[in-house]
Amino acid sequence: MAKSQTSGVIGAGSLGNGIAQVGAQAGYHVILFDNSQEQLTRATGTIQKSLGKLAEKGKLKDTADNVGKLIKTTTRLEELKPCDFVIEAASENRQIKFKLVQDLDALLNKGVVIATNTSSISITEIASKTKRAELVAGMHFMNPVPIMTLVEGIRGLQTSDECFKTVREVSENMGKVFIEAKDAPGFAVNRILMPMINEAFFALQEGLATPKDIDQAMKLGCGFPMGPLELADFVGVDICLAVCEVLHRDLGDSKYRPCPLMRKYVEAGWHGRKSGRGVYVY
Ligand code: CAA
Repeated sequence: MAKSQTSGVIGAGSLGNGIAQVGAQAGYHVILFDNSQEQLTRATGTIQKSLGKLAEKGKLKDTADNVGKLIKTTTRLEELKPCDFVIEAASENRQIKFKLVQDLDALLNKGVVIATNTSSISITEIASKTKRAELVAGMHFMNPVPIMTLVEGIRGLQTSDECFKTVREVSENMGKVFIEAKDAPGFAVNRILMPMINEAFFALQEGLATPKDIDQAMKLGCGFPMGPLELADFVGVDICLAVCEVLHRDLGDSKYRPCPLMRKYVEAGWHGRKSGRGVYVY
């Protein structure tokens, strides 16, 4: 996909705004959609701050202002009609994603690829909700998107080679390293990361150590940039629970059962940094 083309991004949460930003950094015109104007306003502020930091360090090819201007925001999905490529990064909820890809399928021009940033839902199933299953693929970014180098590419059962090549090319244009994972629960990253986070919650539940010491164990003992509990708060405890539930349900092994303490935190609204309280208080 040529850099002057237009990319749509659905969802202005932490992943969506990061994807819009790296898209603009790559020179794409970006249309960022969210049904909440408040979320879009917050996303614009986050993007400006991040671009400012990167510009200060000389990491942008253009000024932060010029890069920022490549991103238009909208609360009207119809405005994505001219897009040449769309990345769906809405909430990690099956029904929301299914409805969105259906609407996009009806709206977008023939031949346009719909990439989904799901962290655990089957790409094959998401694709099956459209009439262009061969043009749907997984494109899984990591948080914080402007800093983390990985994009995990996932082929659904019907994803065409050409579609997957486009997803790889767009990822690489965005400065990311692309790996290919199978369309299996959690793909590669979350299949490994989420059981570790879940185990950290079991350790906390059992009183094995304090939250801070559990995090220090993995940071100082294993060189992780963040401890698993800190990372759960960063990613969203609700997201961690959603992924653990998919691993448990779809892999059918009790070793993936979500920790009851993690579930309690989600029930309490302790979703992590974004809600002001998770394992830690912000
Ligand atoms: N934009 C621009 N710059 C940013 C930034 C952003 N969004 N976020 C951080 N930075 C910069 C900071 O300004 C800072 O720059 P300097 O060193 O020049 O001051 C640098 O990155 C480091 O940031 P901090 O000093 O704030 O903190 P840190 O050293 O702890 O790094 C971190 C922050 C990069 C997030 C690091 O803690 C980290 O790598 N954590 C692990 C993140 C991770 O595992 N992500 C994957 C989660 S899994 C996922 O996303 C997938 C899923 O499906 C759940």
